[in-house]
Amino acid sequence: MTKSESPIVVIYAHPTPGHSRVNRPLAEALASQPHVDVRDLYRRYVDYDIDVVAEQRALAAADTVVLQYPVHWYNVPPLLKLWLDEVLEYGWAYGPGGTGLRGKSMLAVASTGGTFDSYGPEGNHGHPIEAFLLPLEQTARLCGMDWLPPLVLHDADNTNAQVLAEHIAHVCRRIGAHGDSQEAAGAEVRG
Ligand SMILES: Cc1cc2nc3c(=O)[nH]c(=O)nc-3n(C[C@H](O)[C@H](O)[C@H](O)COP(=O)(O)O)c2cc1C
Repeated sequence: MTKSESPIVVIYAHPTPGHSRVNRPLAEALASQPHVDVRDLYRRYVDYDIDVVAEQRALAAADTVVLQYPVHWYNVPPLLKLWLDEVLEYGWAYGPGGTGLRGKSMLAVASTGGTFDSYGPEGNHGHPIEAFLLPLEQTARLCGMDWLPPLVLHDADNTNAQVLAEHIAHVCRRIGAHGDSQEAAGAEVRG
């Protein structure tokens, strides 16, 4: 199996998918890709009762773990945070014997309502987007994972059909090609 055929698990979290302009069509497109297992947390766990064993099994089968979500209050949506808390268990993901994720890669694919400039030096969010992704980056590193340059679509609420199609194509290329290309450090941003 070549690197581009490596299994990928997408942990997709959107609290209100019925209102999603970007993430829902992206998740649907990713689900149609070969070697990609999209796990829709808000559909799978409506009662927030996460099946930790099933999630760990899905992660064990993957080489790349994609976290796909809209940024809500500078963070991941609550069910994705709970997923991190419960699935990345001590003794499985980190700590003594905690090698379940070692050597795998993590890629954040996020969208923001804020524009590219609003996350710039003069922007009203006060920090670059990478600053808000730092807890995820360090989580990956603590678990012995490679942190891939994140993919962020800014100004997502104003995305038109062409930008959305380009974004979906870009994400599909990246998840298929990350093993073969050297991406720049820092977040790749669009929008
Ligand atoms: C509760 C809530 C909190 C949000 N917080 C932020 C935020 O902190 N930063 C930001 O840039 N956008 C924020 N947004 C905008 C969303 O990120 C944006 O609507 C989303 O990325 C669009 O993706 P979608 O079309 O898949 O919903 C927030 C939206 C909601 C509903």
